[in-house]
Amino acid sequence: MERREKVGEEIEVVGARYYSKDFEWENLRHEVENSPSLRHHCQPHIVISSSSSSSGEDAEAWKSFHNRHSRGRFFKERRYLLKEFPELLDAHGWYTILEVGCGNGSSVLPILRAKDTIVVYACDCSMVALERAKEAVDAAEISQKLRFHPFYCDFSIDGFPSWIFCNACREKFHVEAQNNLSDVVANEEANAMRIAGTRDVQCCIGGVDFVTLIFTLSSVPFRSMPFVIANCYSVLKPGSLLLFRDYGLYDMTMLRFLPTQRVGNREYKRADGTRSYFFSLDTVRDLFLNAGFIELELEYCCINLLNHHNGKNMRRVWVHGKFQRPI
Ligand SMILES: C[S@@+](CC[C@H](N)C(=O)[O-])C[C@H]1O[C@@H](n2cnc3c(N)ncnc32)[C@H](O)[C@@H]1O
Repeated sequence: MERREKVGEEIEVVGARYYSKDFEWENLRHEVENSPSLRHHCQPHIVISSSSSSSGEDAEAWKSFHNRHSRGRFFKERRYLLKEFPELLDAHGWYTILEVGCGNGSSVLPILRAKDTIVVYACDCSMVALERAKEAVDAAEISQKLRFHPFYCDFSIDGFPSWIFCNACREKFHVEAQNNLSDVVANEEANAMRIAGTRDVQCCIGGVDFVTLIFTLSSVPFRSMPFVIANCYSVLKPGSLLLFRDYGLYDMTMLRFLPTQRVGNREYKRADGTRSYFFSLDTVRDLFLNAGFIELELEYCCINLLNHHNGKNMRRVWVHGKFQRPI
């Protein structure tokens, strides 16, 4: 029998396949858009200059957030992640993952536990969060020596460092792929050599096999999202996957924001200055396809959760997506 457990922001179905549909998103949409008390979430947002902020300010808000929560583990380990993204387990040999906006390691931990041959690079704009993530990985009883590489990066301004995938290697990959288009075996051999770390150049790690964007894209201003996604695309090896999970349009947490907290269409600012965006499937599709990705999976995950304090049902909506960088 399946059992549901609340895990931080989300639920995990224990002992069953990953589960994503308690209710129809279209029914929720109809209800919200026809409710007078919720209509303000759907109306076009008029931009007021004082409501916008610089990307630097947004990263500062996240740094303060992590400073305030540095003692407790605010984000819980996302144990459902591997059920949702089984391809993280299916890959063979050594492979690399870039977890973008890793916080204190909620997504990093289950990935590192899953296999001894996964190497995780993880960035955040908060040194405190990176330190907490490192402590969590060190404390976990897993063979993680040299498999976890946290690094500081404000990805909404700087992009990713060139040691992940330098221009020369990107170009080389591109030329090789063109030369070997009809020679799949040669491509696979070249890929296996790169993954095994037998590359003869030491300029960079040769790109990554997966990028994970787990509740991170929603935390940057909407206007910065195309830049962030383009950078994710640029560090992926051709043919590799970007795994996406984030807040969905009309999620219960969106409907709790006050009209005064709205800073854009579907975009809100909490009292502490951190942001949250709520994605429709169309918006996610536009963002990723415009960056050059191929859509493999994209759906709403609609789950009923019981609030044990007040006995009320909470309708949670998340967006689940898998996108591929073309070969
Ligand atoms: C909601 S948390 C998600 C954490 C993690 N991915 C997980 O699965 O729990 C969003 C994270 O993105 C980080 N972040 C927000 N804006 C950033 C930026 N511009 N550069 C780097 N990290 C950023 C925050 O510090 C925070 O740790």
